[in-house]
Amino acid sequence: MIAVRYHDSTKHHFNRFAPSLGYLDWATQPNPFRRYEGAPLRALSRAPLASDVPYAALFTNDVPPHAVGDDSIGEFLRCSMGLSAWKQYGQSRWALRVNPSSGNLHPTEAWIVHDGRVCHYAPREHALEERCVIEPEQRAPVGSTNVFLVALTSIVWREAWKYGERAFRYCQHDTGHAIAALRFAAAMLGWRMHLLPHWPDTEVAALLGLDRDADFADAEREEPECIAIVGRDPGAGIPEPKAFTQAAREGKWSGRANRLSSGHVTWPLIGEAVAATRYRDATEEPRTNGSLIPDPGSVPAPPSLPNTANARSIILQRRSALAFDARGVLSRDAFLAMLGRLRPGAPPWDVIDWPPHVHLIFFIHRVQDVTPGVYAFLRDPAVRGEWQAVMRPEFLWEEVHDGFFLLVPIDTGRIANRLSCDQDIAEDGFFSLAMIARFEEPLRRRGEWFYRRLFWECGMIGQTLYLEAEAAGGRATGIGCYYDDPVHDVLGLSGHAWQNLYHFSMGLPVEDTRLTSEPGYQWEESRTP
Ligand SMILES: Cc1cc2nc3c(=O)[nH]c(=O)nc-3n(C[C@H](O)[C@H](O)[C@H](O)COP(=O)(O)O)c2cc1C
Repeated sequence: MIAVRYHDSTKHHFNRFAPSLGYLDWATQPNPFRRYEGAPLRALSRAPLASDVPYAALFTNDVPPHAVGDDSIGEFLRCSMGLSAWKQYGQSRWALRVNPSSGNLHPTEAWIVHDGRVCHYAPREHALEERCVIEPEQRAPVGSTNVFLVALTSIVWREAWKYGERAFRYCQHDTGHAIAALRFAAAMLGWRMHLLPHWPDTEVAALLGLDRDADFADAEREEPECIAIVGRDPGAGIPEPKAFTQAAREGKWSGRANRLSSGHVTWPLIGEAVAATRYRDATEEPRTNGSLIPDPGSVPAPPSLPNTANARSIILQRRSALAFDARGVLSRDAFLAMLGRLRPGAPPWDVIDWPPHVHLIFFIHRVQDVTPGVYAFLRDPAVRGEWQAVMRPEFLWEEVHDGFFLLVPIDTGRIANRLSCDQDIAEDGFFSLAMIARFEEPLRRRGEWFYRRLFWECGMIGQTLYLEAEAAGGRATGIGCYYDDPVHDVLGLSGHAWQNLYHFSMGLPVEDTRLTSEPGYQWEESRTP
């Protein structure tokens, strides 16, 4: 399988990193902002719409829904894919976004299909670029006003510029983070959101005009990732792709993609992995396990702390910590509530249609009344027997909380640091963790396209924990750099049944006082989010 070959080739080893240039070619640094020159630009609303939603309400699906319209779509994008700050150090100035990205390279682009228009989101301007306008008589499938589609694409070169062959993995993590960011923004507006699992990637590409070669003459292509339906009651009519793409093909298109880099390095294995992991057609085994859309009635309420935090503030203040203060301690209740957020059912988990494939190994450093050590957290309790059989026989498997097992009581600071590419953020926080995915079996049974979804699930776990960290008064950081097989060795795992796909850390942040910070949009200068 190409996905497995790609995965193995892009592992970091103690004595050898995955293939990359090994240096940064600043002359070809990609522009972080894709624009479609010549496409009409429509400014989105700048007024906050949902400032009074409590953070805890993001997980309960009972926020009164806003009407779908330009204002609310503007707020949806602002609070998921918009800019959250401009940072400056010396002569360098760079934007940060609501969604995180490996190396802040932001390969993920967002698209909106609503009211007869296919639009690309331009986050710097907080505006929609109208790529395609569909004639009123053709609009039937795309004309519904109380729901809309949101799609995500990746410009893989943005990540490959820095990370070489491993970059495709990071694009998929980032897609997962963005899916969860969109889902949380939708929840804030009282909306449901569901990925459309039966849409082949070629149809997504056709709808967004990604296959219009002439519009990308010398510009980097966008790779379709996923498409979702959003609104008050999106389960009511699941759109079929053909009608949409037919209407779009006959629409009026404008704009040409800007070129992001003056030069490119080709990583052939990335090209193979991209092609092998596309979802091809609706006749393959559907992405779903049964019904296309999860039953909204089946959302269990996760245990949560009484929390008065404001959803919009938490979403907009999310940041990656650059360093942690090793004296910070997380309360046990806050920690256990976080575990509850990672169980399937409530947002963001109702956006996807597959059961948990990713479970966690925690390196607990400083959580009140939790003995430091290595722990397993199973998002599906049925996995316990399997993990116990394939991991080290000396692991204790002592259940300290529902689905949370002590494996080894030990000071894990140095081990966690070493395994996460010798990064102090894995050691100095409350905890760090490894995300271990069921790997070979779903790729064989469902298809190689599921490789991407395993990373999306990891990104969604990360995004949930980023927000949880802010709500608990801490901060988090995604960790894409880790030594793959050494983590497997520590756990006693061999073969490809389970693979480690992402690391993550949380703690009390130490601010970098050398950086100056401005708001993401100058019109928000005088306003607190
Ligand atoms: C998939 C992924 C992998 C990351 N890997 C690392 C890492 O190994 N080390 C690190 O310090 N930060 C890592 N980060 C954090 C990014 O550097 C950070 O998201 C980016 O600089 C943007 O900053 P922000 O999260 O504050 O918006 C990662 C983030 C993501 C989403």
